[in-house]
Amino acid sequence: MTDIFDFEPRVDDYAVMGNPIKHSKSPQIHSLFAAQTNQAINYTAIQVDSGGFRQAVGNFVAHKGKGLNITVPFKEEAWALVDERSERAERAGAINTIKLVDNKLVGDNTDGVGLVNDLTNNYQIAITGKQILLMGAGGAARGVLAPLLTEKPQSIVIVNRTPGKAKELAEHFAELGDIKGCGYEELAKSRPFDIIINATAASLHGELPPLPDSIVANNGCCYDMMYGHTTPFMQWAEQQGVTTIADGLGMLVEQAAESFYIWRGVRPDTGTVLETLRKELAH
Ligand code: ATR
Repeated sequence: MTDIFDFEPRVDDYAVMGNPIKHSKSPQIHSLFAAQTNQAINYTAIQVDSGGFRQAVGNFVAHKGKGLNITVPFKEEAWALVDERSERAERAGAINTIKLVDNKLVGDNTDGVGLVNDLTNNYQIAITGKQILLMGAGGAARGVLAPLLTEKPQSIVIVNRTPGKAKELAEHFAELGDIKGCGYEELAKSRPFDIIINATAASLHGELPPLPDSIVANNGCCYDMMYGHTTPFMQWAEQQGVTTIADGLGMLVEQAAESFYIWRGVRPDTGTVLETLRKELAH
């Protein structure tokens, strides 16, 4: 005889781990995706103390959790911890998505594809054939380089306050396309770029990387990975007369959608969720 409890819908557990985590929008985004696609999931935010990451993941696995998002500052630690990595995660050196498969931790990085999907689908900006300037050479920059290069831009220049780090990063990705690293002074004699992406921590501190004027091509796009307010870089772009100026909210929603797809095999509609978040941020 079949027990009536067999018909109870099973709710699968997911979570985002980071520190700080209180203001994470991931629980809201994934709840909206789940409602939209009729997926029975429970998604929570877990604050993890420094030194406690491995233990926190172990506890989550012991409680039969199905998948995790990992955010600052644990993405590199997650990379080292997982049992398997996707190719893009391998190159990124960081992991933002873990799926539990037969008790194994399988790691991926959806940040880059999130940026690519936001640019190409939401802003209708093709990357193929374009000249791209990527500011910053930390984890945020590294995480998006392979998916950007997969789109076959004409070239990518990584510019960084510490030029050596930009050059090192460019070398790491050299086999995937035309990519080089430099310092900000070298931009003075550079041709304008079609797409400028801010992957530095400058916006966090209300600072503007030292960009020369006339560095954005006509009909160019300026993209800041930060969201929540107009950053100094976005203000600068406005002064330069740039028409397509983007913040990182779309990237946040798109990377979440890719994680959701990895876990559930279903692609949520990102447009409505992005609209909801945008409205909330405007208040
Ligand atoms: P994340 O993981 O978010 O990328 P990170 O690894 O600390 O953080 O990297 C921060 C990046 O922002 C670095 O490229 C840093 O430049 P340096 O490598 O020279 O430190 C860059 N950055 C931070 N503040 C900046 C500023 N005011 N102007 C330009 N670049 C800045």
